[in-house]
Parts: sequence; C-alpha cells; structure tokens
Amino acid sequence: MRLAILGAGAVGRSVADLAGEYGHEVVALADSSHAVVDESGVAVADALGSKDAGDALGSSDPADVFETDYDVLVEATPTTLGDAEPGFSHVERALTDDRHVVLANKGPVAERYEELRALEADSAGSIRFEATVGGAIPVCSTIEDCTPQSVTAVRGVLNGTANFILTRMAAEGLDYEHVLAEAQDLGVAEADPTFDVDGTDAALKFVILANVLSEGGFSLEDAEVTGIQNVPGSALDLAAEDGRTIRLIGEATREGVRVGPRLVPENGALAVTGTRNIVQIETKNAGSLHNSGRGAGGPETATAVLSDVGRLPSL
Ligand code: HSE
Repeated sequence: MRLAILGAGAVGRSVADLAGEYGHEVVALADSSHAVVDESGVAVADALGSKDAGDALGSSDPADVFETDYDVLVEATPTTLGDAEPGFSHVERALTDDRHVVLANKGPVAERYEELRALEADSAGSIRFEATVGGAIPVCSTIEDCTPQSVTAVRGVLNGTANFILTRMAAEGLDYEHVLAEAQDLGVAEADPTFDVDGTDAALKFVILANVLSEGGFSLEDAEVTGIQNVPGSALDLAAEDGRTIRLIGEATREGVRVGPRLVPENGALAVTGTRNIVQIETKNAGSLHNSGRGAGGPETATAVLSDVGRLPSL
C-alpha cells in the first residue's frame, strides 16, 4: 500500500520508519505546520531525521498530501476533543476521495464515530483505528475477531502514565506530585500530562471501545471520569495492608463508560506495573480474554497502524 502520513510526531515518524518492513511505501509525511512530501516515496523518514529535512524535500501546505498518489491516509495528528478537528476533516477528505484511512488520532473515533461510519458507507475506502487504543496491544481487532456482539464488556488499564505514577507511589511510598515530576523527567509523562492524570486519555479509549461494541452512540461527555490527582499515598498504604493496590481502571459496556481509581488485588491481572496496559475482554460464551503489553510509544503504536494497513482490502 502507498501511505500518506499526516502527523510527524513519534507515531507518524515510526510508521514511516517501519512501513518498508511491512512491504508498504511512504509517499508523503506531513505535520500540521508544514508538509514534507517525497513523491518518489524514497527516504522520507531518513530525510526527516536530518536537520534540513524541510529544505531537502520542500515544505508546503498539509493539503498537498491529498494531492499525492496514495492508498491509505494515516491520520496521526494530535488528538483534539469536541469537533476533533483538524483530524476529522482529514479523514473526511480521504474517504470522499475513496481512500482508506487508518487513525492513531483518538479524537474523531471517540467524538464523531457515527459521522465517520456514515462517510465510510459512502466511500470505497474503509477506516480502521487499532492504534487509538492500547498502543501495540490488539484490542479493536480482538473484539472484531470475537465479533462485537459476543463481547459484553471491556475493562482494564489503558493509560501508562497514570499507571506508572500509581506503581511508583505504591512501591516507594512517594506522593503524587513527586512521582509526576519524576515521570516528566523520564519522558514517561508529557510536558502537559493533564489528560493522562485526569482520566481523559483513558476515557477516550474506553469511549472508542463502547462505540465499537454498540456501533456508535458514545462520546467523551457520556463518560463518568475521575482522575488520579487526588489519590493520597496513604490510600495506597492502606490498600497494601489488605493485599490490594489502586489502579486507574476503565470499563466500556453497551450501557456506558466509567474510568476512575479502583482497588484491585495486588497480585491480580489488573495490577500491571509501570507503563504497561492490560485489557480484559468479557465474552458471552467464552469467558474473559486478557491481553497485556506496551500501550504507548512510537514503534509500538506504529505496529498497530501497520497491522491495520495489512487488514485493508486493495482499492
Ligand atoms: N499518554 C498515553 C499513556 C499514551 O500514557 O498511556 C497515548 O494515548
């Protein structure tokens, strides 16, 4: 497949780096401030790694990406809430042009799911969005493989930053502010980790899963969300006395989405440590499926994007 990548952050660049391994060709890579387009598809990622990438390949408007000869738009621009722009318009343009779209950007899938599906219904292209949930962990495709109708609930830990903070607080007896600063120093937390610690990032992922289970109907405003900012170290100490710990747990069902700090058994499956994520998929007839792994990171999330690309039919 010929990939046009919008969003040249860690995920977009990793997709460009790894695409060749999966037999795909990158024909364009652009960020929101300038576009870097290599019509020949050669060495886009390498060139972007160099200081003079813009000069070497020419800078222009991101709209130029849509003029390239591509099969799949990889939408990896930053997640925005509400109208989910400009990501939504990028997807709309590609589907209107009868191209496939693979999203790493959570905004359009969480906030405008039904509109995406309506656009897809009128297009020769399809949308996929495995990378929006759980990084490298196959979550949406596992639900698809089980068939969404047979899944009753999805629960687990889908934010690595919050999980890292809670793990360190419990293990070292450190307070929230101290561990948050440490996570930022280590690059685990973003410079602005608001959405990680207030539960918004996890909620967006569980909203996406609720939409998958119900074929739409949910957006962030339907989610009940509590973050970890007010979890005191003493609560973790008390929990430990009882063989338990606290994790930011989310749950998506056909009834709704809830995310918040919950007590879980210290040695149980949900008590993943560090930045790991875990997903439990509850099925009607086959019990619970567990899947755990790296829920964030450039190469990890790019793996999910490229696995989606591999599932797309030829246009
Ligand atoms: N910032 C997220 C996390 C990854 O810490 O898990 C991107 O959704």
